Amino acid sequence: MTSSEIKSTPHRSNQNPDSAPEHVAIIMDGNGRWALEQGRTRVAGHKKGVDAVKEAIRYSRKNGIAHLTLFAFSSENWSRPEPEVSTLMELFASALDTQAEKLKDNGIRLNLIGNLSRFSTRIQRLAASAEAMTAKCDEMMLNVAVNYGGQWDVIEAARKTFAEALAEDIPFDQVTERDLAKNLALAHSPDPDLFIRTGGECRISNFMLWQLAYTELYFSDVLWPNFNSDEFDAAVEVYRGRERRYGQTGQQVKSQLKYYV
Ligand code: IPE
Ligand code: IPE
Ligand code: MG
Repeated sequence: MTSSEIKSTPHRSNQNPDSAPEHVAIIMDGNGRWALEQGRTRVAGHKKGVDAVKEAIRYSRKNGIAHLTLFAFSSENWSRPEPEVSTLMELFASALDTQAEKLKDNGIRLNLIGNLSRFSTRIQRLAASAEAMTAKCDEMMLNVAVNYGGQWDVIEAARKTFAEALAEDIPFDQVTERDLAKNLALAHSPDPDLFIRTGGECRISNFMLWQLAYTELYFSDVLWPNFNSDEFDAAVEVYRGRERRYGQTGQQVKSQLKYYV
């Protein structure tokens, strides 16, 4: 085995899923279909989806989930009809404006991941201010992915990593997975333990392609506006029943866990 393979061993702090997940990542999907079911416009679905976001944050804070990552707007979502994109931008701006103080009061640090340069200067200003306001909070980390794409994240990290190697005279074949991982957008959070996608689709849609390598995946048919604390609990319960093997056998995992209980 090469040193690079050893270094790529994934984060294992939650090998025993009897404990709560430390990091949960969610693709919040189904706002549009929820609205259509109610005979309302897609915009109404996005508005209702904001309430579900608040509930998921409250649930995570209450249940000791230290890192929550929410996919709010993908780099591919720009291709939606302009009025829908505008509404999503307005909702994003309003959430940054009105929720930063509440996050701070609850000890939650906000971290936006994605290419923010495509947003209006107003949104960029609100984003910087909300991040600054919560920068010292250390009870929970809330990562919100906006104009984010997993492939964008990997190529950006690769560019930085190879530029660093060049500057430090390190041959490219000595660059490791760990060197690249520390330049990813979520370098400060452990890899997600649990991934949840609502809305019934069973795909990753260009979300956290690198970090999901050993994450437990959970797909729910529930549309995002209906995803409440009970649904979150159900996902965590399923997670707790999983055996995380990281390439080992079930027997090996069980014999190691004996020492932790
Ligand atoms: C997720 O809900 C929200 C965003 C992608 C911004 P959708 O808007 O994708 O809802 P569906 O999938 O059309 O129901
Ligand atoms: C993924 O949902 C992106 C977000 C939830 C922000 P989409 O609704 O955009 O995904 P696809 O297009 O169905 O794959
Ligand atoms: Mg969708």
